[in-house]
Amino acid sequence: MYNLLKGKKGIIFGALDENSIAWKVAERAHEEGAEFVLTNAPIAMRMGQIKELAAKTNSEIIPADATSMDDLTNLVEKSMEILGGKIDFVLHSIGMSVNVRKGRHYTDSKYDFTTKGWDVSAVSFHKTMNVLYNKQAMNEWGSIVALTYMAAQRVFPDYNDMADNKAYLESIARSFGYFFGRDHKVRVNTISQSPTPTTAGQGVKGFDGFISYAEKMSPLGNATALECADYTISLFSDLTKKVTLQNLFHDGGFSNMGVSDAVMERFTEE
Ligand code: NAI
Repeated sequence: MYNLLKGKKGIIFGALDENSIAWKVAERAHEEGAEFVLTNAPIAMRMGQIKELAAKTNSEIIPADATSMDDLTNLVEKSMEILGGKIDFVLHSIGMSVNVRKGRHYTDSKYDFTTKGWDVSAVSFHKTMNVLYNKQAMNEWGSIVALTYMAAQRVFPDYNDMADNKAYLESIARSFGYFFGRDHKVRVNTISQSPTPTTAGQGVKGFDGFISYAEKMSPLGNATALECADYTISLFSDLTKKVTLQNLFHDGGFSNMGVSDAVMERFTEE
């Protein structure tokens, strides 16, 4: 370990169980010397094992529905009290599509489902930054990261309306990131992660095919949740102070591939 986050204080959204990317980020942030608050939707707390993570990382849990401005305000105020000061890093690791959950095809979306999924997966990032910005809750040279997927740029048919939510999320990172940088010297980025076997990931139809295709296309293979956590830690550290407004691919090279030998082999069999 490198003590990369020594003395830094943070808020980590979205650790549901030990497979969650946020869970790995919390473990790695703890190892790197950070103190943080864990948060998740109240309903997820009843299902999840977050208490175990809190005990392990010596952190407190504050429930918050990330679509509720009241919950987010309470979260940010309480976090500053608990941590004894302003925040240095925030991880937004939240995604959910009601259309996916209910098995609605993209061409037959139910629009109140669309709106709910968009609010949870994308607008919640705007709301979180709204509270942090207006309460002046971030320290200078702080870092805010959200997790996204390449379906924001390219077509992956089964990703459904999450593709649109991720495009919106990435745009919010740039738009809000401008004001956060200009006014508070805080950076805002998204990490575009490989398919990863988590609860949210496995909700995508045909996930097994999806993940093995990406594995075969990527020169370095798919990035794991732990590797994503390592990358996230680097973005929270002081080693990346001038990186902002970026969508950063963390995918073993997948996003720049056309075709790989391993995939070609399957189409050239006699
Ligand atoms: P996960 O299922 O472990 O995490 C999703 C989290 O969102 C859960 O903790 C859930 O409780 C939380 N959440 C849902 N509604 C919420 C609400 N209203 N308020 C607060 N929290 C809420 O799955 P994973 O994969 O760790 O997801 C984390 C992020 O990574 C998501 O943004 C996801 O889209 C993104 N991502 C995942 C990939 C994958 O293949 N698993 C690939 C690329 C990005």
